[in-house]
Amino acid sequence: MAVTGLGLIMFLLVHMIGNLYVLQGREALNAYALWLKENPLLWPARLGLLAFFGLHTWLGIALARSNRKARPTDYASRSHEPLRVRLLSRRMALTGLVILAFVVFHLLHFTLGAVANESYEIEDALGRHDVYGMVVANFRNPWIVGSYVLAMLLLGLHLAHAGQSFLQTLGIRYAYANLMLKRVGLAVISVIVIGNVSLPILVYLGFEGSASLPTMEAGADVGPIAQRSLAKAAGASR
Ligand code: HEM
Repeated sequence: MAVTGLGLIMFLLVHMIGNLYVLQGREALNAYALWLKENPLLWPARLGLLAFFGLHTWLGIALARSNRKARPTDYASRSHEPLRVRLLSRRMALTGLVILAFVVFHLLHFTLGAVANESYEIEDALGRHDVYGMVVANFRNPWIVGSYVLAMLLLGLHLAHAGQSFLQTLGIRYAYANLMLKRVGLAVISVIVIGNVSLPILVYLGFEGSASLPTMEAGADVGPIAQRSLAKAAGASR
């Protein structure tokens, strides 16, 4: 669980940093999305992510079951079990289920455009999928912002426990290293949660970066990914 969990946390960190391009503007986010889409490592990475997510969920369910099986006849009273332990395992199962439901909704919403996303089909002036336009249009809706923020806070609760227990699960027991790794873990998790919670709110409040695209003449002043998009668009229009 710890190894797959760490892999998923790395994905969340990279995904959150990539999403921040929306604060820079249309060119930055759309060029980044196109770069991802055309990357030959996209499908291997997607399959790896799916395997990690599936394994993590399956191990979580198996762990909850084996905890129950360890005591086939239930205790007459569970009152001797520390309340904190009972609440924690219930919290992990509940928040885990919410994250699973969020990921299914999120893929249908932003990746496939199959639910509640009227702006999925739009393209920008350079003929790319307008991911910026889609995200901004969606985060103008207070219900979508509210549900993303709620899901991100529950993700934060799930990760908070992960940050406490992963060293124990991995069997690392050096006091100094433990303290340092726990602090690093907590810092990474805080960055992910703060980034993910604030992004929909910032966009809702109007902090979504520049909506305009660079022109051919200004192409020399933009980064290499934007340059490639501009060159492609110029080639296509010839
Ligand atoms: C505020 C938070 C988030 C925003 C704004 C966001 C935004 C997006 C967008 C725009 C896409 C589609 C990209 C494209 O079509 O080019 C996407 C894909 C995806 N997101 Fe998120 N996301 C957020 C949080 C999350 C979280 C918390 C998870 C996981 C628990 C997640 C998992 C994914 C996955 C698996 C994909 C599909 C990647 C692929 O195409 O292979 N996202 N996200």
